[in-house]
Amino acid sequence: MANSLSDCFRPRMHEPIGDAMPYSCVVDSDHMLRVRVQDLRPPMRLARPVAMPNNPTRYLVQRDVVVTDALKRRMAEIGVEEVWIRCEELAFLEDVIDPELGERQKEIYGNIRRNFERLSRVADAKLEFESFRSSLSNLFDYLRATPTGFLFLDKVQIFDDYLLTHSTNVSYLSLLLGMKLDWYLIKERPSLTPIRAKEVVSLGLGCLLHDIGKLRIPKGILDKPSRLTAEEMEVIRQHPSIGYKMVHGSIPTASAQVVLNHHQRWDGKGYPGPTPMNGETPPPLAGDKIHIFARIATICDVFDAATSKRVYSDAKPSVQVLSEMLKYNVGCFDPVVQQAFYEIVPPFPIGTLVTLTNGFRAAVVDYDPIHPCQPKVKPIQYPDGEACRYPDNREIDLSKGVGLQIHFQGEVDVRPFLFDRIPMAPEKSTLGHHSLISSSVRA
Ligand SMILES: [Fe+2]
Ligand SMILES: [Fe+2]
Repeated sequence: MANSLSDCFRPRMHEPIGDAMPYSCVVDSDHMLRVRVQDLRPPMRLARPVAMPNNPTRYLVQRDVVVTDALKRRMAEIGVEEVWIRCEELAFLEDVIDPELGERQKEIYGNIRRNFERLSRVADAKLEFESFRSSLSNLFDYLRATPTGFLFLDKVQIFDDYLLTHSTNVSYLSLLLGMKLDWYLIKERPSLTPIRAKEVVSLGLGCLLHDIGKLRIPKGILDKPSRLTAEEMEVIRQHPSIGYKMVHGSIPTASAQVVLNHHQRWDGKGYPGPTPMNGETPPPLAGDKIHIFARIATICDVFDAATSKRVYSDAKPSVQVLSEMLKYNVGCFDPVVQQAFYEIVPPFPIGTLVTLTNGFRAAVVDYDPIHPCQPKVKPIQYPDGEACRYPDNREIDLSKGVGLQIHFQGEVDVRPFLFDRIPMAPEKSTLGHHSLISSSVRA
């Protein structure tokens, strides 16, 4: 009889107990559950390989490996945030998870890594724009053919070089958001034919390169674990202009706009700010004067930065970041873009392991943007660690007034972060300045 989470995932044969249907995980099962590394309990078994820190095309461990304490420590050290473990109860996930997506992302990561390494060594090295374009087109074609792929938001998770993983992830998110907003792209780019206006590969390219200017910022400032001084902030704030000079003329104008203006806020704040001309400073770029690709990049950039592990902060759960963005980033984002973003980014991605307010552990099994923080869940474990049996492990729709909500994701009490479907004009927060604002400066 299972009495801990680790027991629940210990590979074993089915063990019928009376008439009840037993909970079991079977060695050969492909069914998966998303678990944060700190929540791993030996001997859970990995359902997907875990990539090497320095090279995502190689693996630290293969799938089917049983997690030990040593492996768990190693994964935490290199910055792996989540892994997939086997769980027969979640068989249905197999229908919507496709490892192809990870392969396409890795191709892009490999490309950006090669190019950025060369640029770091050779100041005037040329970027391989065509290979970027081709790998982004491959990812775009994949996403177009796989409408449910976004539910997993499978980030590249390699901590050794934040700039590379962040660039890859922002690019991926921007493609998803751009596809969702195709009608808006047509509206906001009236000089182009509809077909050309909604073409998002240039958006993905701009996002892939959005922080390229950071290659020219001293590492000591970029990776400083403590708070930046005003002077250091000023140096970092140069990276959009530096990046723009690096790519201007070599990539499509729309992509270069992302590099220059991804820190430009909808309300006109942000940077790089207007350039004085003839002794006068024009008004700051704001609203729809900012290129729509840059507006899309801004929200993807802030979100990815805050959900990623940094040298000066831990990764936050998506629900926390989405909630904080509503409270503290008022005026940053184009409201139309923000609305669409909240529809495609689940606060609790499918497969996430959570604890409910009644103490049951459960897996998130569906996402409905109308009730973003009240997903359907499937209980898999009683509060005492016992595996749930039928009928207790039937799916529960938390939006149906069942008196339950999500309490913990991993160690984090997420109740303060649960939010309703976003209103078009979020209320201004009275809680004042918050670290998310400053972290977005370093995004
Ligand atoms: Fe940036
Ligand atoms: Fe960024």
